[in-house]
Amino acid sequence: MSLILQSVFSPEDLARVRAELEACAWSPGKATAGATARALKENLQAGGEDPRVAALGRFVHEALQRHPLFEIAARPARFSRVLFSRYEPGMSYGAHTDDALMGQGDARLRTDLAFTLFLTESSAYEGGALVVQSALGEQDIRLEAGDAILYPAGSIHQVAPVTRGVRLAAVGWIQSLVPDAARRETLFDLSVLRADLGQGGAGRDVLVRLDKSISNLLRIWAQL
Ligand code: NI
Repeated sequence: MSLILQSVFSPEDLARVRAELEACAWSPGKATAGATARALKENLQAGGEDPRVAALGRFVHEALQRHPLFEIAARPARFSRVLFSRYEPGMSYGAHTDDALMGQGDARLRTDLAFTLFLTESSAYEGGALVVQSALGEQDIRLEAGDAILYPAGSIHQVAPVTRGVRLAAVGWIQSLVPDAARRETLFDLSVLRADLGQGGAGRDVLVRLDKSISNLLRIWAQL
């Protein structure tokens, strides 16, 4: 399941992140690509060891965790570090899948989900869609600045060539407590239903029984 998360960043958040990225050094993104993706990755990334970039990454994680749909859609257990990417005209990232495992030592994680948080207004550049393949075909994703897409990291995806302007985005990966996508989607549907019933004035006993089902499925399916 792919899901759009609207307004992960406010306009103020965007202005802050873009201003701080302006001051950072950018280097070729090939350095963080897996072996097969390296030849396909033509972009720039904000300096990997720069503590300002690490702080911006934490800012992205905090914004995601404040979003009302993120927790129930991702059930996050671990996060990768956040990469800030920059595509100038002619840059692209060909069709690839992400590495199943990332990071070293304590930072090691299994990549169940990927996210792309768009940092540039869609009118400020042309091309640069995130293209995700699914059973239903290819989906071109070009969101407004501040919006993010959460999608399966195991899917084949690419970033189409940018033909005008500059496209900035933050990308990262998540290890979920519920690795199985169908189970995660079932829990998401039940949690959305729980919220809808709560707003619709359902009785306390109905909501508690639904809470019990969600909790017990989580007990059966969660991998700590
Ligand atoms: Ni990728």
